[in-house]
Order: sequence, then structure tokens, then C-alpha cells
Amino acid sequence: MEKGFFITLEGTDGAGKSTQMKYLKTFFEEKGYPVLLTREPGGTAIGEKIRELILDNANEEMKDKTEALLYAAARAQHVEEVILPALQEGKVVLCDRFVDSSIVYQGEARSIGRESIEDINHFATGGLSPNLTLWFDLPPEEGLKRVASGGKVDRLEKEALHFHQKVYEGYQTLKNKHPHRIKAVDGKKSIDEMRREIRGIVIKKLKEVYGMKLVIAIVNDEDANKLLDSLTENRHRVTKLATTGGFLKAGNTTFLIGTEDDQVDQVMDIIKDKCETRKQVATSPAPVSGTTGVYVPHPIEVNVGGATVFVVDVEKHFKI
Ligand SMILES: Nc1ncnc2c1ncn2[C@@H]1O[C@H](COP(=O)(O)OP(=O)(O)O)[C@@H](O)[C@H]1O
Ligand SMILES: [Mg+2]
Repeated sequence: MEKGFFITLEGTDGAGKSTQMKYLKTFFEEKGYPVLLTREPGGTAIGEKIRELILDNANEEMKDKTEALLYAAARAQHVEEVILPALQEGKVVLCDRFVDSSIVYQGEARSIGRESIEDINHFATGGLSPNLTLWFDLPPEEGLKRVASGGKVDRLEKEALHFHQKVYEGYQTLKNKHPHRIKAVDGKKSIDEMRREIRGIVIKKLKEVYGMKLVIAIVNDEDANKLLDSLTENRHRVTKLATTGGFLKAGNTTFLIGTEDDQVDQVMDIIKDKCETRKQVATSPAPVSGTTGVYVPHPIEVNVGGATVFVVDVEKHFKI
């Protein structure tokens, strides 16, 4: 993959993140993508030390702002030392928790405020944002039950259920704010059902980020040049085919436009704008003389312009 692919996993404790992360790793590896698994707030030697400091039951006097800054500090190290280099190498990076965790845990549940958390994290990450965030949607009491039966409970897991409820609501708000990036996964489903749901979401997102489309547009000759100008001005890759066939007096011109999935709407807007349908008088009607006099035929109005457009999925794309 040319630019890497960054996925974060979010959700309350026990929601199934670690379980599904392993499946995701296999999913990508089977497709031949190099994968990096990492987690917040660790992922680096410095980060792991900070993580110990944050989670240590002995540190009960830790202030909220201290905790928020420690998470951001670990993240800054993590982004520069691990995540960015991996993305630059074209890897798929799967990260267990990222900025969203800080927003909901420190910003919402600890009431520091979303904006302060967003600010310090923007500084820490240099604005890096995931291509996709999977939010494991499980009511906190369910997650806590799973974790409690799993053994040791750390300082954060011991917090009152009320705290976890605020975390859960924070995630819901975030998801509504970023519906394109954050996709909910139903944490109440079985492990296998969740695995399938996640697969579907990931495949869709991969197509969105890396999918190529071929737009084939057949337009009226009269519109061809202004369409070509506008498409090239907007940096689309266009091939104009020779004029063929024809309707009325003008011929048709066919364009092939190769584009990324998320650019198709823009291409369609340009075509709509430059090839709008309009009325034209098709023939200049000559008077006709008949036995009872001279008749002037009504002018024939026809629609010209418009376009016929096909948007086709590109399976493979070679440059030879
Ligand atoms: N879909 C599921 N249904 C029931 N139990 C699950 C499910 N997914 C994970 N678990 C179990 O719940 C516990 C917490 O899962 P885990 O993946 O560690 O969650 P997280 O990483 O989000 O804290 C583990 O014991 C795991 O086996
Ligand atoms: Mg986990």
C-alpha cells in the first residue's frame, strides 16, 4: 500500500478490542499487507514506562491534568517513533486506543473538557488522524463483568460504574461527530459475528481509501472542450476519445476519467455543470406551400447537452 493504513480500536474495557485486533492482523496478513500491532499508551520503551506510571495502583494522588499530559506525552513518542515510520513504509497500523480514548476518558469522564484534550493531543500527534476507528459498542456494565472475571483489576478499571458510563456516552457523542471515520461494532455479538462485521467495515473502508473508479462519460461534442478544461484544471486524469457517432448535428465525445473513489462526486459535479441539458431549435423550418396556401411549420425544439455516464469499479490498474 502506498500510503499505509491507520486503524484505531476504541471502546470501554472488556468490549473485545484485544480479541478482534488479533483477527484483524491475520486478515491483513492473509491479504499480503505488512501489519504493525501497537497499543496506547505504550508502543515504545518510554511510553511503556509512562503507562506503568498512569496505571499503578500506588499513584492514587495523580491529578487529572497530570494524567492527561502523560497520555499525550506517551502518544507523541509513539507517533514519531513507531506509527509514522510504519505508515511511511506502507504498513497497516492497528493501534489499541488513540486520541479518542483521551477525549472520552480525560476530557469527558474526568471533566477536563474536550477542547483542552483535543489541543494537547493535536500538538502531540501533529494532527495525525486514523483512516478508520472501530468503536466497540458495549454497555460498560457488560464490559466490566468480562474484565472482572478475567483477573487483575487496575486503577482505572476500579473507577465507579458512573465513570465508565460517562466514557460510554463520550464515545457515542464522538461517533456522531465523526460518522465517516468512526464505525460502531456491536460488542454484544459473539466473537465470530463481530469478526465478520469488522471485516465488512474494513473492506468497505479500504475501497474508499484506495479504490479506483473509471468514469466513462459520453457527452455532446459542443461541451467537450469546456469539460476537458474543467477536469484538467481540477487535476483529474482524463483521456478524450475521438469523436464518434452523433446525434442531431453534433457528434459525441467520450471521456475516460480514472479517479479515486472519494473523488467521483466531484467529477460528477463537473460533468453536470459543463454538460447541462438545454433546448435548441433543431432545424430552421422553411415555409411549405400546399394547395390551400403557404404553411409555416412550428420550430422543432430538442434537448441538447447532457451526458451518459458510467462509473465502473477498477479491479486492477497497471502502468506499463
Ligand atoms: N464478543 C464477545 N463475547 C463474549 N466475550 C468476549 C467477546 N469478545 C471478547 N470477549 C471476552 O471478554 C474479555 C475482554 O475482551 P478483550 O478483547 O480483552 O477486551 P478489551 O481489549 O476491549 O478490553 C476477554 O475475556 C474476552 O475473551
Ligand atoms: Mg485490551
